[in-house]
Amino acid sequence: MLETKDTNERFLTESAATSEDVVEDRELRPKSFADFIGQKRVVDNIELMVNSAKIREKAMDHVLLSGPPGLGKTSLAYLISKMLDVNLHVVSGPAVDKKGDLAAVLTNLTARDILFIDEIHRLPIAVEEILYSAMEDFRLDILIGQGSSARTMKIDLAPFTLIGATTRSGLLSRPLRDRFSMQLHFDFYEVDELNTIVSKNTNKVGVKVSTEARFLIAQMARGTPRIANRILRRVRDYAVVKKIDEMDNTNVESALHMLGIDSFGLDQMDRKILKTINEQYKGGPVGIDALSATLNEDRVTLEEVYEPYLLKIGYIIRSSRGRVISDFGKKYLDKIFGQNHSTTVNITKE
Ligand SMILES: Nc1ncnc2c1ncn2[C@@H]1O[C@H](COP(=O)(O)OP(=O)(O)OP(=O)(O)O)[C@@H](O)[C@H]1O
Ligand SMILES: [Mg+2]
Repeated sequence: MLETKDTNERFLTESAATSEDVVEDRELRPKSFADFIGQKRVVDNIELMVNSAKIREKAMDHVLLSGPPGLGKTSLAYLISKMLDVNLHVVSGPAVDKKGDLAAVLTNLTARDILFIDEIHRLPIAVEEILYSAMEDFRLDILIGQGSSARTMKIDLAPFTLIGATTRSGLLSRPLRDRFSMQLHFDFYEVDELNTIVSKNTNKVGVKVSTEARFLIAQMARGTPRIANRILRRVRDYAVVKKIDEMDNTNVESALHMLGIDSFGLDQMDRKILKTINEQYKGGPVGIDALSATLNEDRVTLEEVYEPYLLKIGYIIRSSRGRVISDFGKKYLDKIFGQNHSTTVNITKE
């Protein structure tokens, strides 16, 4: 049986995610396009497609949503299904390991339904192939039998919309990518956009935060709404336990410090990555596999969760021979650990 899984349960620091966080994360999902802050180009295009599909009374065209984790791909897929008032079927790419699994999902779709495939770049190629005719002609071509007795069975499907989400669009095969008539990329959010998200969510999370401190949370959130919400929840916990009526900058700084987030918004693993490249690999270049082995951290997590933001803020650079720390990255280490920081990876702020 196919596992239908909502992969929204991944957080920056997975160990910090409690099941309560996951439930709250869902509650904080935007409920309308107006609630969906930022990503203007993405939202404008989606709104146009949704409205057109409604007027034409047809299934919306297939869309590929790409971008780093926690920027709102899953949230947007939910929002689209709500706006179109159609069913949303969620599957996770790596969980579909047999053609039959996907065929079962596809044949169960009713007209205009949305099939959301999360982490679509991790769909096995043999499974992916049955999507080609499904997406293009709403038809399943299934090969039955082997050798001379083999024949193709064609099954008509209801017209549906495929929404694919990926943190690594570059890993998608060409034939699959080309079948999405719309491909939209999510960028990291601006601080003022995150500030709006934090401000909208303080009440929902159940904490009062001063205007200044809300801005601080937005600045420390690595351009990522999921992280802003995660910090906000820990700020709430801090306020509840310390019996603080309204969290100000100093209180928020203490809560951030407990989370291991420094005054640059980077966390323990970011610092470890930068320090390892700088010291153990003399600034780089270092290949991702070597880095992953040294840090004892999964390669995919490094590539998909940590690296995009470090690249965006220019602390590391990707060259053909591997990752290199930039001058900015070195200056950051000097500021955090002092000019003559030791070769041991010290993860505390001071
Ligand atoms: N544009 C937005 N406006 C308000 N809140 C947002 C927005 N985008 C994301 N969020 C919040 O961030 C959380 C994480 O977003 P979401 O799960 O949609 O990210 P994702 O891109 O699917 O991540 P992943 O790649 O890890 O699956 C949501 O639960 C929602 O609360
Ligand atoms: Mg998601």
